[in-house]
Amino acid sequence: MKKIVALTLALMMAVCCLAGCGEAKNENILTMATNAEFPPYEYMENNEIVGIDAEISRAIAEKLGYELVIENVDFDSLIPGVQTGKYDFAAAGMTVTEDRLEQVDFTQSYATGIQSIIVKEDSPITSADDLFADGASTKIGVQLATTGDLYCTWDIEDEGLGSVERYNKGADAVMALTSGKVDCVVIDNEPAKVFVQNNPGLKILDTEYAVEDYAIAVSKDKPELLESINKALGELIADGTVQSIIEKYIPAE
Ligand code: ARG
Repeated sequence: MKKIVALTLALMMAVCCLAGCGEAKNENILTMATNAEFPPYEYMENNEIVGIDAEISRAIAEKLGYELVIENVDFDSLIPGVQTGKYDFAAAGMTVTEDRLEQVDFTQSYATGIQSIIVKEDSPITSADDLFADGASTKIGVQLATTGDLYCTWDIEDEGLGSVERYNKGADAVMALTSGKVDCVVIDNEPAKVFVQNNPGLKILDTEYAVEDYAIAVSKDKPELLESINKALGELIADGTVQSIIEKYIPAE
């Protein structure tokens, strides 16, 4: 008897998997993973995850007839979670990079990001070049596993030009800057603006460290889901919805 139950269960699971392959994990729920430490793309407000990515994802889910569930996890758990199917997709101001493209698929891009440099107002660091100067030995704060971390690790730490301090949250890196534990923070421009606004005595340098494209990450095992999300996103870009969501959070200067 037990065997039959087990067999039936195994069969049911096999059928489910076949039917669900390439689509969302659950019939009517789409699970988005993010790291809500990245205003204005995703952050907590009254115990809720809000921001550009949350709204774009909600609009995508709505278009596809799904209910959206958002999970808030560490940034370095996003790609593994997408790969194992724990989450249907990750929307986290995530930059498309060659390395990540080997691990997950990306939708078309919906926004541009700039890696910028935050320093104290009276800092001797005045441009990106200063970080690369011989004997600079700058201490750079970053959010763990972000492109700011990757670039500074490759370009500066590995080259013996300085060191990288990795924090779980961008805001923690900024706090370390305020308290003098690091000399600068390399982070995406929009969160940089928010952090500088909230922490007097800091400024963003004019020079850009890198310019990048943000996109939504989907498992390589879910090509149909990627296509659906991409199509919905394309429509939301075309009809101006994405732009108006971005403008709601990033007022024109
Ligand atoms: N754009 C950078 C990257 O992809 C940082 C993204 C951080 N996002 C976040 N939600 N904390 O690595």
